[in-house]
Amino acid sequence: MADINSAFEAIEQKGFLDIDIDPTIDLFAEIEKLKKEKNAIILAHYYQEPDIQDVADYIGDSLGLAQYAEKTEADIIVFAGVHFMAETAKILNPSKKVLLPDLNAGCSLSDSAPPPLFKLFKDKHPDHKVITYINCSAGIKALSDIICTSSNSQKIVESLPADQPIIFAPDKNLGAYINKQTGRNMVLWNGACMVHEIFSLEKITRLKIRHPQAKVIAHPECEEAILNVADYIGSTTGLLKFTKQDPANTFIVATETGILHQMQKASPDKTFIPAPPDNSCACNDCPHMKLNTLEKLYLCLKYEAPEIVMDEDLRLAARKPIDEMLKISAHYGL
Ligand code: 13P
Ligand code: SF4
Repeated sequence: MADINSAFEAIEQKGFLDIDIDPTIDLFAEIEKLKKEKNAIILAHYYQEPDIQDVADYIGDSLGLAQYAEKTEADIIVFAGVHFMAETAKILNPSKKVLLPDLNAGCSLSDSAPPPLFKLFKDKHPDHKVITYINCSAGIKALSDIICTSSNSQKIVESLPADQPIIFAPDKNLGAYINKQTGRNMVLWNGACMVHEIFSLEKITRLKIRHPQAKVIAHPECEEAILNVADYIGSTTGLLKFTKQDPANTFIVATETGILHQMQKASPDKTFIPAPPDNSCACNDCPHMKLNTLEKLYLCLKYEAPEIVMDEDLRLAARKPIDEMLKISAHYGL
């Protein structure tokens, strides 16, 4: 077994604790024990692997997770999600220790917008307000006027006067969808999610022919061609809710496959088919989300590392547009 000091050094190099775990221990029971001992909670996004969802205290979409993280009184937040989500939790609740099982859990959308380049883009549009999808770094948040998520983006955009020019970043697909919904003409940053861009319209069309009663449900990060054939478009929470309430028995799900775990749990008699991607591999897993494992989560809770640490000035600057979002969301009961 690696000694603890070298294991901590490994965080610097690898981004996660690298310690052998006794294969005979019950990780689920150990995690429960550690949560109680340390007054810790586990927040998980729907794209996490099923085992992680099953040990979580709260599972949600980006908005729900941010709202929960802001209010929790636990001493430790273990964030089973990606870096921008854990960072948002730290921004909102700085006195808590926020841990991320694998610091390498990034996001292709967030990576598409480096703050120095975005600053140049913003400076070219001085009369524009900046609405930014929460899938971005704290540096980008600090350059934004209002943050949004997939569940409140339309309301956030509509909260600004119709003649207010807007930059929307970093997701061009969500931005184009909101432009269409609201009739606005927001200037879009050219970013996209690597998972939601790979769905194949051709294969979804073939699936629809084989399952004529199935409903196609899609996340708004998908490309327009996929959204055009969707019966319902929404955030992960929205998609889950739709499958619970809609009378259909079969759903073709165009988002990351992790969400199927909660869909199947909530509606065990319904059938959920992951929308096929445009490649030979049959999976639409987010490689960033799936870096977290139950083993890494256990080690992270046990040794309280890796931890999210932030510069205080950056945190305060990034908090302003998030607070703006939370205020507007609360106004609409979201
Ligand atoms: P939501 O869960 O907020 O819909 O976001 C989806 C996503 O891609 C998160 O990375
Ligand atoms: Fe980022 Fe897409 Fe993965 Fe979400 S699913 S974390 S948007 S890469």
